[in-house]
Amino acid sequence: MTRILAALSAAVCLTAGLAAAPAAAAPAAAEHRPRTLGELAEKHHKYFGSATDNPEFTDAAYLKLLGSEFGQTTPGNAMKWYATEPERGVFDFTAADQVVAFAKAHHQKVRGHTLIWHNQLPAWLTEGTWTPDELRAILKNHIQTEVRHFKGQVMHWDVVNEAFNEDGTYRETLFYKTLGPGYIADALRWAHETDRHAKLYLNDYNVDGIGPKSDAYYTLIKQLKADGVPVEGFGIQGHLALQYGFPADVQQNMQRFADLGVEVAVTELDIRMNLPATPDKLATQATWYADYVKACLAVKKCVGVTIWDYTDKYSWIPAVFPGEGAALPYDENLLPKPAYYSIKKVLGG
Ligand code: XIL
Repeated sequence: MTRILAALSAAVCLTAGLAAAPAAAAPAAAEHRPRTLGELAEKHHKYFGSATDNPEFTDAAYLKLLGSEFGQTTPGNAMKWYATEPERGVFDFTAADQVVAFAKAHHQKVRGHTLIWHNQLPAWLTEGTWTPDELRAILKNHIQTEVRHFKGQVMHWDVVNEAFNEDGTYRETLFYKTLGPGYIADALRWAHETDRHAKLYLNDYNVDGIGPKSDAYYTLIKQLKADGVPVEGFGIQGHLALQYGFPADVQQNMQRFADLGVEVAVTELDIRMNLPATPDKLATQATWYADYVKACLAVKKCVGVTIWDYTDKYSWIPAVFPGEGAALPYDENLLPKPAYYSIKKVLGG
């Protein structure tokens, strides 16, 4: 509002042939609004975002915070294969468009998640039997149709999600079994052909620190780069749990990928705990969030952090990990938890 008024008065002054009022004349009150996580991150040339999902779009209080506190969003489900190509060759971007329109209206960046994953695939795809040629054609069409639809609106694509097992071997997905490991390079090339500006990512969980799984990505990305394949980012999901300890070497791990020449993003951060949440657990969680964000701030090519939704009200955790939850920086009543304040502090707020 203040900015609009300042712009208006500047315009009036100019029309009247007078010098525009200096910016310092703006009312001091504007300076005292608390900065949002998104704004604070931007001062470090990074984004701070939250995933979201369409059922939440009926919750006005939720949307208000989503639209004001965060500089980036990721559709939690709406861009997955089951949602976007429910029948072979029949595309439906309604849900994803809703998220993208919200992001646009609130000046938020969008991460596209995800083009290829072994989960949440449509039945026609998993129940069919495909020759390599057929599956390659299906894959190419899926990737290019989706990337084309969101061209110019999506800054990153998680082109392949969760390609490796914990021991660093390839996950035996439909795509791997039918096409071999080359499906990853093909997918990256097809996406790049369609949108040369979106940054193309490989994304996974349990790759926070240095270990067999992140090593597999390190080796793969190095090879892809050597082969001239357009891979530009490594997405570290960051689904942590208090009972498993804070991963070691997070910053060093991010840095080694940066040194390979790709950017790094923390794409799905949440930190769950065995319920009930206690003040002690919430305090530890707050430290972990701060330490994770600190690691990203310390690595120039870490471009931002996305939490996997921002409130415990809509977290995916309780449904998938029974007995666990309280994983996000806002509680079920949309009130900030200690983690919110610790993130804010690390960002300089
Ligand atoms: C989750 C969604 O949040 C849930 O709503 C859905 O039921 C299952 O998928 N890793 C990913 C995300 O890459 O796509 C997953 O999202 C969480 C784990």
